[in-house]
Amino acid sequence: MILEIMQKKLKNILISIFKKHGLSYLHAKISSNALINAELVGAPSHGLSRLKMYCDRIKKKLINPKPKIKIKNISKSIAHIDANNSIGFVAADIAIKKAISNSIKTGIGLVAVKNSGHYGLSGYYIEQAVKKKLIAMCFTNAPPAIAPHGAIKRLFGTNPICFGSPTDSNVPFILDTSVSMINRGKIRVAAKNKKKIPAGVALDKYGNPTINAEKALKGVQLPIGEFRGSGLAWMVDILSGVLTGGNHGGKVKDPFDDFSGPQNIGHLFIVIKANLFVGNYNKRIKENIKLIKKLPKVQGVKEILYPGQNKYKRYRTNLKKGIVIPKNILKEIKKLNAIR
Ligand SMILES: NC(=O)c1ccc[n+]([C@@H]2O[C@H](COP(=O)([O-])OP(=O)(O)OC[C@H]3O[C@@H](n4cnc5c(N)ncnc54)[C@H](O)[C@@H]3O)[C@@H](O)[C@H]2O)c1
Repeated sequence: MILEIMQKKLKNILISIFKKHGLSYLHAKISSNALINAELVGAPSHGLSRLKMYCDRIKKKLINPKPKIKIKNISKSIAHIDANNSIGFVAADIAIKKAISNSIKTGIGLVAVKNSGHYGLSGYYIEQAVKKKLIAMCFTNAPPAIAPHGAIKRLFGTNPICFGSPTDSNVPFILDTSVSMINRGKIRVAAKNKKKIPAGVALDKYGNPTINAEKALKGVQLPIGEFRGSGLAWMVDILSGVLTGGNHGGKVKDPFDDFSGPQNIGHLFIVIKANLFVGNYNKRIKENIKLIKKLPKVQGVKEILYPGQNKYKRYRTNLKKGIVIPKNILKEIKKLNAIR
């Protein structure tokens, strides 16, 4: 049994749930918008399936519903944010807006965040900058999932890397990828729904390949490109953890099953003006994409897509439809909304 619900109604329900858990209207709205966006772009692993987790962490005082977020301006371009254990969506929203405004003033905005939490999809924030014709990148670390190359214990998160650029069309270039073969949320959702995961993405705790989601969560996830992916995960841990003052080196807590303290995740946002070095960036990016798109294609491929094109298409299609909520998640939402 599933329920299809229109976005506006869903948004009001989510805002009401977050408010009941102590968030201000503004923070509840920011968080609800991020969850709905994840559903619309076809990433349910980062949408409603995480609502209960965020609420559980607020109830256990591991997410601060009324954070006193401090922004320290280091220069006109650079800022350091202490998110005071806010829900990650709010910290990231403040950080990207600060990076955007600094980049518009000076050409580049560099914003580091510490004491934050899981912020969902990186691309959601980068899109804000790209809509203003800016180039942007962001990094966040995440709870242990990947074993560093040569180790048998998981330590790095699935640590997504995100890069966005305007394209001279409505469809932004947004490369937003975990450095693991699949993101951990997909394994969580598979475990919740007793579904199998693809082969070649995880090992069980004994180091054997597995397609069992529960066993994969207890074992290790495989990085993209072997030691290269492990290296990228390490780079993200340095940029978003070591550099920012956030947790790093395997200390980011798993939001679903580690309630021993706040996550203290770190994020790093970099935004630059697209015409910083050349006056005709729009023309150049258009030409760049055109050159790549007209290459001969492998059999069965109709169009060479750039990163973000697939998500944009899903978003536009889903925007006209209701959001489909599986029965188990609907039950969680009803229970959370019933709290007084
Ligand atoms: N906050 C966290 O801790 C955390 C951790 C991991 C992942 N995430 C988020 O999860 C989301 C999903 O990550 P993912 O690794 O599953 O991404 P994915 O595998 O769905 O996509 C990765 C990238 O490949 C592009 N792509 C997909 N198909 C393509 C094609 N045919 N041609 C060209 N490009 C194509 C996509 O547009 C995207 O930019 C991301 O938004 C990421 O930020 C968050």
